[in-house]
Amino acid sequence: MADCPKILSARFEEPDSHTLAVYESHGGYTALRKALTELDPDRVREEVKSAGLRGRGGAGFPTGVKWGFVPQNTGKKVYLLVNSDESEPGTFKDRYILDYDPHLMIEGAILSSFAIHSNDCFIYIRGEYGWLVDRVQAAVDEAYAKGYLGKNILGSGYDLEMIVHKGAGAYICGEETGLINSLEGRKGQPRIKPPFPAVVGFLDCPTIVNNVETVAAVPWIVNHGAAEYRKVGTEKSPGTKLFSLSGPVKRPGVYEVPLGLPLEDLIFGEDYGQGMRDGIELKACIPGGSSVPILTAEETLDVNLDYESLAEKGTMLGSGGCIVIGDDANMPELLKVLLRFYHHESCGQCTPCREGTGWLDELVGRLIDGRGRPNDLELIEKLCSGMAGLTICVLSDAAVMPTRSFIQKFRADFEALLPRTQQPEAYVPTTSAAELGRR
Ligand SMILES: Cc1cc2nc3c(=O)[nH]c(=O)nc-3n(C[C@H](O)[C@H](O)[C@H](O)COP(=O)(O)O)c2cc1C
Repeated sequence: MADCPKILSARFEEPDSHTLAVYESHGGYTALRKALTELDPDRVREEVKSAGLRGRGGAGFPTGVKWGFVPQNTGKKVYLLVNSDESEPGTFKDRYILDYDPHLMIEGAILSSFAIHSNDCFIYIRGEYGWLVDRVQAAVDEAYAKGYLGKNILGSGYDLEMIVHKGAGAYICGEETGLINSLEGRKGQPRIKPPFPAVVGFLDCPTIVNNVETVAAVPWIVNHGAAEYRKVGTEKSPGTKLFSLSGPVKRPGVYEVPLGLPLEDLIFGEDYGQGMRDGIELKACIPGGSSVPILTAEETLDVNLDYESLAEKGTMLGSGGCIVIGDDANMPELLKVLLRFYHHESCGQCTPCREGTGWLDELVGRLIDGRGRPNDLELIEKLCSGMAGLTICVLSDAAVMPTRSFIQKFRADFEALLPRTQQPEAYVPTTSAAELGRR
């Protein structure tokens, strides 16, 4: 889209875009200068709230509203934790910001810290992104050397320390309270909410956890104002969003699109995916990362990329990990790959998730291996009912949503795997280990 401003991806293709020199040559850190000289923290927060920026980590919660939950003058420190754990299958957009424009994230993190009256910021980067830890640390060092970080930033009296932290590589550490526990040196297991991190978070202090892409949008909003931001996107989903497009399209990659763009355009548009690879037809699409319900081809061609339109179709925008699926894909096998991931990544704290993800993985696996039983699809649904909404965090739901939608929308592919002869014993509606047939 020619008239869509590049708020997040303007420098992705520029040589040495990760350096301070290139960032400054594009007006980098002018938003910080503006905030520190012309605005106060409340004004920055109000601007972001009016812009309607919503969290890009998955839940889509309004950022300025969340910042407003931080209690002031408690005598405790306030922390900003930038969530760079990016482990959701199909999602690889934060990685582009960290790799190609780390100063955009850093400037956004400074502005966000300023807005919540924080003097301490951590950048939590997933363990598998090892090279990005060095990339971001080098950029943070440059920012300190130039006086954008540290004591008395640009002579304003505002202090901010920024620490880059490397996680050990676990999906659950992207869940905000798992991240907080991990940063405190504990097991990366989610905490019960409430209390919410904004009130009781890192080291029991008020804490905001924000996604990389969320904070990266803040410099543009401060520079151009909320009204300009709202000119892009839809009324309820303003602005732009990065989508990581994967699967059998001609041009997979990371694209910044105005929210509200038809999903069909992202897949087939000349500026984006440029259509399916030769000989492959569109079969389905997972629009927001592996945890969200799948869309059929028909639904894919009839939905826009904004929070509301996707919710109307029974799915979610999530993290913007758009996984395109071709007619050569085997749906049960694809689901099995996802279930193996959730089984492996369940932190084990809640029984429905620890046991349920394992059993889903096992049941779909046995169908594929020809060891299925006639009632296995009902059994899978029964397991799902015992997992969704019953755990501390939503990793369990994240396994249930693709399972249910794959089986509901591509039922024939799963039914084809059921044994043709009936088992002699009737289906007993209790989920026991014997019933599941665990070997
Ligand atoms: C299992 C799980 C994994 C998550 N992984 C990430 C992640 O890698 N990055 C992220 O920003 N948010 C992740 N989230 C969402 C975070 O809990 C949180 O909502 C987000 O970081 C808030 O930032 P935002 O308001 O800017 O979106 C995850 C949530 C769950 C339940």
